[in-house]
Amino acid sequence: MSKKLAVVTGATGGIGAEIAKQLAQNGWRCLLVGRNETALETLRKSLGEGHEIIVEDLQDERAMAAIAVRADALGGTALLVNNAGLNQMLPFENTPSSMILNQLCVNLVAPMRLTQALLAQLKRTHGTVVNIGSAFGAIGYPYQSIYCASKFGLRGFTEALSRELDGEVQVKYLAPRATDTKINDMKVRAMNEALGNKMDSPELVANEFMTLLNSSARRRAIGFPEKFFARLNGVFPELVDSAIIKQLKTIKSFLGTKESSL
Ligand SMILES: NC(=O)c1ccc[n+]([C@@H]2O[C@H](COP(=O)([O-])OP(=O)(O)OC[C@H]3O[C@@H](n4cnc5c(N)ncnc54)[C@H](OP(=O)(O)O)[C@@H]3O)[C@@H](O)[C@H]2O)c1
Repeated sequence: MSKKLAVVTGATGGIGAEIAKQLAQNGWRCLLVGRNETALETLRKSLGEGHEIIVEDLQDERAMAAIAVRADALGGTALLVNNAGLNQMLPFENTPSSMILNQLCVNLVAPMRLTQALLAQLKRTHGTVVNIGSAFGAIGYPYQSIYCASKFGLRGFTEALSRELDGEVQVKYLAPRATDTKINDMKVRAMNEALGNKMDSPELVANEFMTLLNSSARRRAIGFPEKFFARLNGVFPELVDSAIIKQLKTIKSFLGTKESSL
């Protein structure tokens, strides 16, 4: 029997590469999407036989059709992992318009466009979409206003579509907390340490991804106390306001500068 096809965006990133690895180990054939051909090739070779790459920038709307054509030729998408993302932590007042658009495009609009481009295939295969969100998709955090807007949006999109496509395509949302990848630079790592925030390994996130994929659940959050705060913020946001505002001076000392953290 031929293997089912998984389309994985951000495949060369810390979390994406681990997800691709675990999918390959569990019998999936991966179509690895990214911008860096050399890194994609290296990953493809490390996964063994049968995996493919496609070099696309997800900010380019034409990428969606190209990915859809390629995936169709490989038998049709049975799993779409919208994992590519970026986080440019800056004071909101200093965030250039180009950075606002950039983050909203890669983190929110691209997953919507790609899901739409692959939807006919996903319906045909009774497939699954997993959107990689964040703890900051449920908790507004200072100096990450654009990132939070994108991930809150992704969570809302996932939930609505999951209900709309019930019985046709499963649409799921995974919310990691801080994870040890290059998305977090030295300033963020130092801030997390100062605040006592734990950082997970990409392997742990990929394990959690597989658990979500292989269950009937629509959503999964990683890590305590983050998942507790995410729920609390939905019910009593005032309590979380005070907890985060108490940290503001520390957060500002690491992230409150003009230059981008990336
Ligand atoms: N690490 C964390 O602390 C953390 C916590 C919660 C959620 N997440 C989420 O987890 C996901 C994966 O992040 P990560 O931690 O693995 O970060 P990462 O190592 O920086 O990987 C991000 C990936 O996204 C890709 N990407 C960025 N812009 C792109 C574009 N325009 N077109 C195509 N690909 C693009 C990057 O490709 P290039 O190599 O070409 O730039 C890279 O492969 C993201 O959605 C992130 O928001 C991460």
